[in-house]
Amino acid sequence: MKAIEIRNKYLKFFEKHGHKVIPSAPLIPENDPSVLFTTAGMQPLVPYLLGEKHPEGTRLTDYQKCLRTNDIDEVGDNRHLTFFEMLGNWSLGDYFKDEAISMSYEFLTKELGIDPNKLSVTCFAGDEDAPKDIVAAEAWKRVGIPEERIYFYGKSNNWWIAGEEGPCGPDTEMFLDTGKPACGPNCGPDCNCGKYVEIWNNVFMEYYKSKDGSISKLKQQNVDTGLGLERMTMLLQGKETPFDTELFLPVMEKLKELEKVEYIESRRIVAEHLRSSIMVIADGGRPSNIDRGYVLRRLIRRMTRHLNKLQIDLNELGGLVDLYVETLKELYPYLEEKKDMIKEVIITEKDKFMRTLSHGEREFEKVANKAKQENKKLIDGYAIFKLYETYGFPPEITSDLAKEQGFEIDLDGFDKLFKEHQEKSRLGSEQKFKGGLAEQNEQTTKYHTATHLLNAALKVIVNKDIHQKGSNITVERMRFDFSCDHKLTDEEKQKTEDLVNEWIKQDLPVTVQTMKKQDAVNSGAECMFIEKYPDEVTVYTIGTVSKEICGGPHVTHTSELGHFKIKKEEASSAGVRRIKAILE
Ligand code: SER
Repeated sequence: MKAIEIRNKYLKFFEKHGHKVIPSAPLIPENDPSVLFTTAGMQPLVPYLLGEKHPEGTRLTDYQKCLRTNDIDEVGDNRHLTFFEMLGNWSLGDYFKDEAISMSYEFLTKELGIDPNKLSVTCFAGDEDAPKDIVAAEAWKRVGIPEERIYFYGKSNNWWIAGEEGPCGPDTEMFLDTGKPACGPNCGPDCNCGKYVEIWNNVFMEYYKSKDGSISKLKQQNVDTGLGLERMTMLLQGKETPFDTELFLPVMEKLKELEKVEYIESRRIVAEHLRSSIMVIADGGRPSNIDRGYVLRRLIRRMTRHLNKLQIDLNELGGLVDLYVETLKELYPYLEEKKDMIKEVIITEKDKFMRTLSHGEREFEKVANKAKQENKKLIDGYAIFKLYETYGFPPEITSDLAKEQGFEIDLDGFDKLFKEHQEKSRLGSEQKFKGGLAEQNEQTTKYHTATHLLNAALKVIVNKDIHQKGSNITVERMRFDFSCDHKLTDEEKQKTEDLVNEWIKQDLPVTVQTMKKQDAVNSGAECMFIEKYPDEVTVYTIGTVSKEICGGPHVTHTSELGHFKIKKEEASSAGVRRIKAILE
C-alpha cells in the first residue's frame, strides 16, 4: 500500500466514525514562539485540548507535517527521520479509552489488514500521578488482544507530554512484531532490538502538567493519537527502512547513480535532510543563525557535506529538488508551485556554506595537526568554539571531521562556552528590549496596519495579482515581501507611496470581524497561506481598500499612522521583491 493510500484510508475511516477532517497546520507554528517547529499533530490543537470549543466539533482527524530534530545526529541509520507525517484522530471531551482503542484496532486489522496476532500493546503501569491503566488493558482484551501481549510500563514509556508543560496523560502504544527472534527472555516492546516496532500511540489526555511539575485534571477527557506515515508505509510494504519506500526511493536511486563513492549512511542523510529542508522552506522557513533558521541551515549544510562525501557534483542539487517535488507532490501538491523558490534558497545556502567550509576545513586541519603533534586524542571545547565563532564553522561538522580522524571531541566544553556567549548577547538584547517596550506595541501596531495598506496599494498600482510573501516589523521600520516579477520603477514606487499616504489622510476606519475561514475566503479576504489559519479567523477591513485574514493588532483609524515612506525596494528571492518602509 502506498503512503497516499494509507493517508486516505485513515482520514476516510475516521470521517466515517464522525470525525471532521481538518487541514495540516504548517511546520512552522503560528504565533507560538515556545516551539521551533510543529512536532506532533496535537500541537496546533492545544487550546482545544484545554477546553476551548473547536468550530469543527469534538471529533477531529488530520494528517500533520512534523519536524523533530532532537535525534538529528542519528539520521543515517535505518529508521531516524527529522521530517515525518503524523496521522491523527482526536476526541475533545468526546469518546475516551474504549472507543479510541476499538477504532485503532479496527483500522489496523480491517483497513490496513495487519495480522492481529502480530500486535502487542503497552499501557501505563501507574504511579502517584495516575492509576494503572486497567481500563485501557480491558479494552484491548475486549477487542481480542490476549493478556500476554499487553505490557505495562512506567512514565518513561507510557506517558506523553510535548515538552515540560501542557496537556498530558497515560498512553497506550501499539507495536508490530516484525517476526525477528526475541533478543532475550526480557525482550518486549520496550526493547530496542528491532523485534517490535511502534506503530501508533493513543494518548489519554486528561491531565495538565504545570511549570512547577504538579499534575492536575483537565476540564475534559481527550484522546490524542499519532500514527507515523513513513513507518507504517515501510512496514506494510515489508521494507527494512523508510528509504526503501516510494517516499525516498527515487531520490535514493538517483544519489546512488550520481555518487562516485558508496556510503549508504551519507546517501540516507542527503535524502532525509533534503526532504526536510524542502518541506521547511515550502512552509516559509529560511536559513539563518538562530532558532528555526539555524535548524534549516544545519540540515542544508549537513546535506551538502554528505553530497561532498559521496563526491556528487553540487550542481546536481537543483535536479534533486525537482525529483523530490515530483516524488512528493502526490502527498503535498503545493510543492510544485514553490519549486523554484525552494531551489533558490537551497542553492544559495549551499554556496554560502561552501565558502565557510573551505575556510573552516583548513582551520580544522591546523587544529587537528597541532593535536596530533601534542599526542592528544581530544579536540577541546575552546577549539570547537573558536572555529564556530571565527569561521562560522558548525560544531556538528567539527564533530564529524574529528570523528573521521579518530579524535574525541569535547562538545560539553563547547556547549558551555556557547551558552556563556549566548547569555552575554541575551543580556545585551534584553537591555535594548526593556528600553523600547512601551513604544514597541504602539509603533509596531502602526506598522502592521501599514503593511495591509501597502499590500493593497501594490495591487492597485503595480499588479492586482501581487501577494504578500512575508513581513517583518521592528519599532524602526517595516519590511514587506511580495510576489512580483520585476524591479519596481521609480514611478511605481512613488505612486504606491502616494496612494498609501492618500488612504492614511482619508482616515479610513479599521474594523475587525470573526468569521469562518471559508466565509472569509469567499468574501475576498486576502491571506498568505490558507492552511495556516484556524477554522475560525479574524478579518481586518480598512475602509473599502483592504480586507485581510490576520490576527492583528491594528490601529482603529488610518490617520494614526503619520506619513508613509518607502526607503528601499530590492530583490528578496526569485520572483519575490522586498520593500523597506518607515512611518514618519
Ligand atoms: N501526541 C502523541 C505523539 O506525538 C500522539 O499523537 O506521539
